[in-house]
Amino acid sequence: MHSGQVRFGIIGVGRVTRQRFAPALRSTTQAVLLAAASRDVRRAEALDPQRAYDSYATLLRDPDVDAVYVATHNGLHKELVLEALRRGKHVLCEKPLGCRAEECEEMVATADATRRLLMEAFMYRYHPQLSKAQELVRERVIGELMAVETSFRFPMTRGTDVRWRPEWGGGALLDVGCYCVNFTRLFLGDAPRAVHAWATMDGVHGVDTSVHAVLEYESGTHAAVSCGFDGGPYQRAVLVGTEGALSLSEPFITWAHPPRLTVHGGGTERVIEHEPVDTFRMEIEDFCQAVNGGTGPLLKSNEGLLNARVLDRIAAAATG
Ligand SMILES: NC(=O)c1ccc[n+]([C@@H]2O[C@H](COP(=O)([O-])OP(=O)(O)OC[C@H]3O[C@@H](n4cnc5c(N)ncnc54)[C@H](OP(=O)(O)O)[C@@H]3O)[C@@H](O)[C@H]2O)c1
Repeated sequence: MHSGQVRFGIIGVGRVTRQRFAPALRSTTQAVLLAAASRDVRRAEALDPQRAYDSYATLLRDPDVDAVYVATHNGLHKELVLEALRRGKHVLCEKPLGCRAEECEEMVATADATRRLLMEAFMYRYHPQLSKAQELVRERVIGELMAVETSFRFPMTRGTDVRWRPEWGGGALLDVGCYCVNFTRLFLGDAPRAVHAWATMDGVHGVDTSVHAVLEYESGTHAAVSCGFDGGPYQRAVLVGTEGALSLSEPFITWAHPPRLTVHGGGTERVIEHEPVDTFRMEIEDFCQAVNGGTGPLLKSNEGLLNARVLDRIAAAATG
């Protein structure tokens, strides 16, 4: 083991753990997979950790675990995050951090009190297209930013998916709308002056399957958010300025198709492409550097709370 290597425990071995996070963790020398816990220990063992547990609580009691990655359904995030922090562990928690802002408030307060790192795992923020878009906006390449439009939608085909369960923080707004809100906040800030929203609810399960929202800001700027699991797959982000626009073809999921950042203006289009990167690995390495007292992390502990406040406002405003 390298000195300074962060000893991770993974809690919950679902799709994101198996397909993205565990392979990324294995690919970096900055972390080691010390432990994994699943309700079915064979799923934990399949990740080949040094220690496999059949209960989340047992992993949290392991004193050798420095940091945990919480990747269960949303309904368990709060209690697992709180327990991990109280046991002195740093926490990287899958998005959304909590199901409501109230839950996130408690998590952030506990992270502050225990002086542990808490980060919401928005891996998409590590793709270089994000910092490039921020730089182009700062340089006023599209003039003054007027509006941010985001869409994230996929067809939900799995009838038993955890996203159908309202009591587990299901629904499209929390699942994919949280990306749209995070992107919007990055460019327009944390506090819209007014929020208008329309939602379509699934009559059987009682979760939102489609949400459209318009956010107004003091500066006169606007955001349009469109998310759902009733169509697509489709994702897009557009930054509209007084002299042009920037569009991101794959703003959130960047591994299925090469993401293109296009600068539109003056009747021309300039496409900026990027080499493929593993945003999960970048996220893990940034988090590990912060655990070891270096710079970062990119997302501060209250980011999840600020996101949840806007998501709560959209949910509260939603009619339909
Ligand atoms: N950053 C990303 O790109 C990304 C992508 C997808 C999802 N996510 C987030 O990651 C989390 C997990 O999503 P997923 O797509 O991996 O979900 P999934 O495949 O449906 O896995 C569900 C997870 O919840 C756990 N779980 C605990 N109690 C459960 C119960 N009673 N029924 C079913 N599952 C239970 C499972 O752990 P066991 O191993 O114990 O069964 C498993 O880790 C969510 O918060 C989601 O928003 C993030």
